[in-house]
Amino acid sequence: MTEELPEYDLTFYPDPLLRKPSEPVTSFDEALSRLAGGMLERMHASNGVGLAAPQVGVRCRVLVMNPTGEEGDDRVLINPEIIERAGVETTYEEGCLSFPGVYAEVRRPDSCKVRFFSVDGEEHEEEFTGFTSRVIQHEYDHLEGVLLVDRMSPADKVRNKHVLQDLVARYQERRKREESPA
Ligand code: CO
Repeated sequence: MTEELPEYDLTFYPDPLLRKPSEPVTSFDEALSRLAGGMLERMHASNGVGLAAPQVGVRCRVLVMNPTGEEGDDRVLINPEIIERAGVETTYEEGCLSFPGVYAEVRRPDSCKVRFFSVDGEEHEEEFTGFTSRVIQHEYDHLEGVLLVDRMSPADKVRNKHVLQDLVARYQERRKREESPA
C-alpha cells in the first residue's frame, strides 16, 4: 500500500515566510517522512538540486537535495548544523527555486562539516565538498531566512533588477487576489 505524498507548491520571493528562521524538528514520525518525500517530489518536478522546507511553506529545519541528479542520490538532512566551513572560497552562479529566472555569482568556502539527523532520527556527521557543499550551504541559508538576494553582489542586483521587480509585482498580485476572492 502506497499512500500518496503531500503535494507542495513553491513559495516565491518576496513572501515574508522565506524570511523567518525555521524551527527544529522534534518528532521523527510519519508526518516528517511524508514532508521529506513531498519535498523531494517538488524538487525533482521543478528540476532543482536542493530544497528547504520554508520553500514549500513549512517553517521547519528540513532540507532535501540531489546534487548529481542520479536516481538513488536523494538526500534528506533534518536539523542540519554547519559546524565548520573550510577550504578556498569559490564563486559559482547559483539559482533558487524561490527566485525563478534569477542567477547570481555567490562566494562560498569549498567544504563544510555538517551534523544532522536522518528521517529516522539517527544522528550523523559528514563532510561535504564541491557542488554538494554549495547546495547544502545554500539550503542551510533558507533555514536561517537568508536568501540569494542577500548574497548577491551589487552588480548582480543591477543585472537581475527587472526579474526581481517582476517577482515582487507577481507576489503583490497574488496577495491582492487572496484578499479579495472573486
Ligand atoms: Co534557494
